[in-house]
Amino acid sequence: MTTTEAQFADFGGLRVEYDARVLAPRPWTAAQSRWAAELIRAAPPGPVLELCAGAGHIGLLAVTLAPRPLVCVDNSAVACGFLRRNAALAGIAVDVREGPMDGVLADGEEFAVIVADPPWVPTADVSRFPEDPVTAIDGGQDGLELARSCLDVIDRHLAVHGSALLQVGPLDQARSVAALVASYDELDVVAVRGYERGALLQIDRGAREAA
Ligand SMILES: C[S@@+](CC[C@H](N)C(=O)[O-])C[C@H]1O[C@@H](n2cnc3c(N)ncnc32)[C@H](O)[C@@H]1O
Repeated sequence: MTTTEAQFADFGGLRVEYDARVLAPRPWTAAQSRWAAELIRAAPPGPVLELCAGAGHIGLLAVTLAPRPLVCVDNSAVACGFLRRNAALAGIAVDVREGPMDGVLADGEEFAVIVADPPWVPTADVSRFPEDPVTAIDGGQDGLELARSCLDVIDRHLAVHGSALLQVGPLDQARSVAALVASYDELDVVAVRGYERGALLQIDRGAREAA
């Protein structure tokens, strides 16, 4: 198989096109879409943002289940190409921002729900996943370099009473991220769920006033 031979996956009922230059859709991550859809239904008005969207399936499935305008960010041109194709296949208009997450959002842009799926494999371990493109999984020395960038974007762009859903790897990473979130004045981790191959944290703005 050549590296650019297109492949297709069924992701929660969505047809997703991708190739070996991007991360293949991981079936368990449909749980992130379904949880995001629950959050979207309860969220204040406003669009949804997906950070580190790759081929776009997590965000696309979320807004298929709970329709809202969707903005997707990825710094890979190849991933953004698949994202546009997969959005067209799903019949969903997506505002695709190609570039680093800290460079493609305008000051003052606010989102009701933010879904984030940063690379989270520590650099020393990336060779354990030879099928995956390094740029899609390399999370830096402790695996959390891009998760920290996501938290900064969430802090700048999550609406009051909005929710973010951040994916990390093992539960010890989730605990480290929860400790990082505690240093943000207006953000709180309100739920953590562990799955066989990763963990999700729900991070809300304004949870303390609501309690
Ligand atoms: C773990 S993959 C997730 C992709 C997709 N959500 C999926 O489930 O297949 C991480 C994605 O983050 C992108 N990425 C890495 N660094 C980034 C950055 N600084 N800004 C935006 N996207 C980035 C990579 O190109 C890759 O597509």
